[in-house]
Amino acid sequence: MANDLHTVFDETLYPYINKGLDGVVAFSTTKSSIDGQNGELIYTGYNIDVLAEKSTFEEVCFLLWNDRLPTQNELDDLTHKFQARRDIPKVVLDYLHSVDKESKPMSVLRTATSMLSETDIHLPDDSYYEKAINITAKLPTIIAAFSRLRSGKEIVQPKITGSTAFNFLYMLNGEEPGIQAEKTLDLCLILHAEHGMNASTFTCRTVGGTLSDLYSAITAAIGTLKGPLHGGANTAVMQMLMELEEQGKDANAVAFTKDKLAKKEKIMGFGHRVYKTFDPRARHLQKMAQSLSEETGHEELYRWSMDMLNTMKSEKNIDPNVDFFSATVYFSMGIQPDLYTCIFTMSRIAGWAGHYMEQMEHNRLVRPRALYVGEKNMDYAPIEER
Ligand code: SDX
Repeated sequence: MANDLHTVFDETLYPYINKGLDGVVAFSTTKSSIDGQNGELIYTGYNIDVLAEKSTFEEVCFLLWNDRLPTQNELDDLTHKFQARRDIPKVVLDYLHSVDKESKPMSVLRTATSMLSETDIHLPDDSYYEKAINITAKLPTIIAAFSRLRSGKEIVQPKITGSTAFNFLYMLNGEEPGIQAEKTLDLCLILHAEHGMNASTFTCRTVGGTLSDLYSAITAAIGTLKGPLHGGANTAVMQMLMELEEQGKDANAVAFTKDKLAKKEKIMGFGHRVYKTFDPRARHLQKMAQSLSEETGHEELYRWSMDMLNTMKSEKNIDPNVDFFSATVYFSMGIQPDLYTCIFTMSRIAGWAGHYMEQMEHNRLVRPRALYVGEKNMDYAPIEER
């Protein structure tokens, strides 16, 4: 068997490994298309710029799960289901009350999402659509509840009205958000909902490919998104901006960036495996970051961001990704930095669930190969002789 593997991985057949699966096409999908050269993103036929202007997060969920836009009745029906299913079960509430308040919110969200599966034990295994609605409805409640509990505040029960964005901000802050805050968050949710075969979506499809359940796939995807090279970067961006804040309002973001580059450190929120130009989502977030930072008296955040952006362009020719300006947007909305990746999660559930359903339609086990580079057929020394 060992010899067979060696033959299969003969260098003439497999001359190189695509480290990080760079450039490998693993699945076909109708969920999204990314043009990395021209900075274009399409969700199921619709340009992200059009959806940003005209759509809502709820409508984008329908689009990604049905491959078409909803009629008014269909959108109302999905919205009502989201509204009616926002409550979280007692087992999750007990966990949120008991978990260490110092825990990282993404870790808490990952564990709580796994626990949610018990709410659906009465549903048939293949009720992916209903389960996707349940998870999407409940993630914001979990995030807001943990955020309040760790600050010693009472949990705010979800309303059975309003959009996902409205209700999340209401549960988080204990007061109804204004229309501008709701629209801002709704736009963020639209922009983060789906993005091709990113690491967490690949994880989600790989778990689904074993015919494991949606909760397992989403739990694994959350664990993947959490990493700072992926969705965790938005929190890391805010940490960089806070480092600058410590130096005072006159902090030099150009020198800060150059210094990090000289030390071969990554500048979080920059670079992308697919985009070789400005991430189209970052353009929308940049506009929001500019106006919100001015409105809230944090102009320096935007000024530093632009200094970093220009320095990264001139020094490395690298552009910002979705995570860069979202940090300033969420900060300006008064949201705690370690919740930023949780907000990414409550949006990306739309894409993950869409991909999971697609995987179930055309499933084949995901099982790549590894090139063995170790020794073979070594003598087995008894333990006392090693
Ligand atoms: C997301 O895939 C998706 O679609 C993800 C996402 C989604 O919506 O799902 O878009 C969300 O995850 C955005 C990315 C968030 N991560 C970060 O912001 C972390 C910082 N960025 C990087 O570490 C990096 O750019 C990655 C991880 C995003 C991409 O990594 P790659 O494709 O493996 O690129 P690389 O690390 O091999 O870098 C290539 C070159 C290197 O220079 P050289 O050694 O060739 O001279 O570019 C440099 C890197 O050092 N580089 C950076 C850099 N990003 C790339 N240098 C400094 N700072 C950076 N941020």
